[in-house]
Amino acid sequence: MTDRYAVIGNPIEQSKSPFIHLAFAKVAHQDMDYIKLLAPLDGFAAEVDAFRAAGGKGMNVTAPFKLDAFAYATDLAPSAQMAGAVNAMKFEGARVYAENFDGVGLVRDVVHNLGCPLQGKRVLVLGAGGATRGALLPMLAEQPSQLVVVNRTVAKAQELASLAQQHQLGAVPVVGLGYEQLQGHQFDVVFNATSASLTAQLPPLPASVFAPGALAYELAYGKGLTPFLKLAQQAGVTHLADGVGMLAEQAAEAFAWWRGVRPDTTDVICQLTVPLV
Ligand code: ATR
Repeated sequence: MTDRYAVIGNPIEQSKSPFIHLAFAKVAHQDMDYIKLLAPLDGFAAEVDAFRAAGGKGMNVTAPFKLDAFAYATDLAPSAQMAGAVNAMKFEGARVYAENFDGVGLVRDVVHNLGCPLQGKRVLVLGAGGATRGALLPMLAEQPSQLVVVNRTVAKAQELASLAQQHQLGAVPVVGLGYEQLQGHQFDVVFNATSASLTAQLPPLPASVFAPGALAYELAYGKGLTPFLKLAQQAGVTHLADGVGMLAEQAAEAFAWWRGVRPDTTDVICQLTVPLV
């Protein structure tokens, strides 16, 4: 019998998850179906209940339901606990296992696909919202030489930095700063994890933060050259990337978790890439 999976969100039309998972299923010879589920804003649990009752095996979760999924789960993985949000669920009888693969997907894209190890690097993350929360522990596991979180609301950056400092397994120094405190500091990898790109805004980032040979990585996907990437390019950065690889890699992690086979992401990334112009 064909196993059923879905991605749930509101809106959901824009989701690339069915395309990605069905492409993975084809190459991995998995008998599975993957659909989009639009849930009413106050109807997450009822929609998931119905999907499970009909035999659904697992789900990806997108905006605005990542916190609803966190509350719905019976078994939260450490990644979901640290992120405070869930992006993948697996259903086994009464149990709802929950994960957050965004951070591990991001790191895998940077290290494996882009060939940029984080070990020993000076890493800067812009923003202290959900995207940053999910990314910090996987980044710290790579042992950068330092990790700075910068945010408009400085207290949020400081809070997140001390949380990550406590929970990491190693001893990487993690600090939270305001944008004006970045003057005179340089970084080898700069991640834009703010939501500024979604509204074509630019965080108040000094162009001097990019070290020679730096990688500038925009977590948003499909927006072309965002104001952040443009700033990096104007500052002389040649290694620019957006979140297409992160999207594919978090999907591959979920697929491996559900199906026990880790698909290669090269074709999917190629097909979903929007040129950075
Ligand atoms: P997400 O889940 O996408 O991370 P979020 O939790 O709402 O979304 O967090 C959005 C992040 O983007 C926050 O760090 C926010 O900064 P504040 O905490 O100071 O609000 C940041 N952000 C949004 N728009 C921004 C802008 N124009 N410039 C700088 N930072 C911005």
